[in-house]
Amino acid sequence: SQAEKAGYKHFMLKEINEQPRAISDTVSGNYKLITDGKLDGIDLNKIRRIQIVACGTSYHAGLVGKFYIENFSNIPTEVDYASEYRYRNPVLTEDTLVVSITQSGETADTLAAMRLAKEKGAKVLTVCNVIGSTATREADSVIYTYAGPEISVASTKAFTTQLTVLFMLSLLLGRERGVLDSSEFDRRLKLLMEVPGKIESFLNVEREEEVVKKIALEFYRSKDALYLGRHVNYPIALEGALKLKEISYIHAEGYPAGEMKHGPIALIDENVPSVFVATEGKVLEKIVSNIEEVKARKGKVISVTNPGIKEVYELSDYVINVPEVDEFLSPIVNVVPLQLFAYYIADFLGYDVDQPRNLAKSVTVE
Ligand code: G6P
Repeated sequence: SQAEKAGYKHFMLKEINEQPRAISDTVSGNYKLITDGKLDGIDLNKIRRIQIVACGTSYHAGLVGKFYIENFSNIPTEVDYASEYRYRNPVLTEDTLVVSITQSGETADTLAAMRLAKEKGAKVLTVCNVIGSTATREADSVIYTYAGPEISVASTKAFTTQLTVLFMLSLLLGRERGVLDSSEFDRRLKLLMEVPGKIESFLNVEREEEVVKKIALEFYRSKDALYLGRHVNYPIALEGALKLKEISYIHAEGYPAGEMKHGPIALIDENVPSVFVATEGKVLEKIVSNIEEVKARKGKVISVTNPGIKEVYELSDYVINVPEVDEFLSPIVNVVPLQLFAYYIADFLGYDVDQPRNLAKSVTVE
């Protein structure tokens, strides 16, 4: 009903706007767990490797989680689609921690992957949004996201709260294993606490949403789009492309920008927009070169960037400014304009944003 949408035209737009609150709640809801440094039912000192399993948007969160865990805790981490994992013969031992990520806790493939992992003797931790769901009942340990009910089929606040949990988990693992000292742990946690305010400012102070909407109006008739990012923002390019596909039915491909030259660059002409995630970080200069390559082929470039990055501003046809945050936290902020971009394009096309054709909120059968 209209009342449930709190004045927003769609649940998706409401849920995008709820992200500052959802992230804050996820930080405070897990603060004690993370600072206590224990996970129920799991011996942290035994873990030698991590395998993340998930589907859809949750899988993209897992790809970012790999960066967090490897960077902050030094534990080798793999990420798999649950539907692939369950049908191969994953190599795991008792010192493997399998982390499933699932908003609903009911996705059939994810549950099957968890069961396989348990059968083979691994411990299973689930990152889940729904209390009492099957995943939370079957896992050895649970960390909740506190996104609140997510109604829109296209996931938004569940994703950013999953990233929040994965960041916190990696800090916990890093400290317990002596990779992060206490002051670095505290410093990183404080940086995370700044994220809700940055998203809030993007949405409600800078009113960048109006900019996103204008760009969406320029591109909603496109037939294809490329999304490019590197490092921690490579999965954000994948997620941006997925959002667009899911609700606007425009063909979109996400790619690591460094791989462009091995294929996608062949697609570029004046009709194919490229959306770059080009915010501050160790790969910024590399991204700038990739933007130059697209411009040299007359492609249109839309960049998500930070204020004051002159090269990106000068090369791009359109820029969306997001507040600067720590590089590792930038995916949480950078995905927000991509969610809005997909939302406005779908809305301009007149589609049923919250209930896209052929898709289900939770895929409980195979
Ligand atoms: C469906 C939904 C997606 C979601 C995926 C995984 O495809 O439409 O939004 O990312 O399932 O769902 P889960 O509940 O396991 O995170």
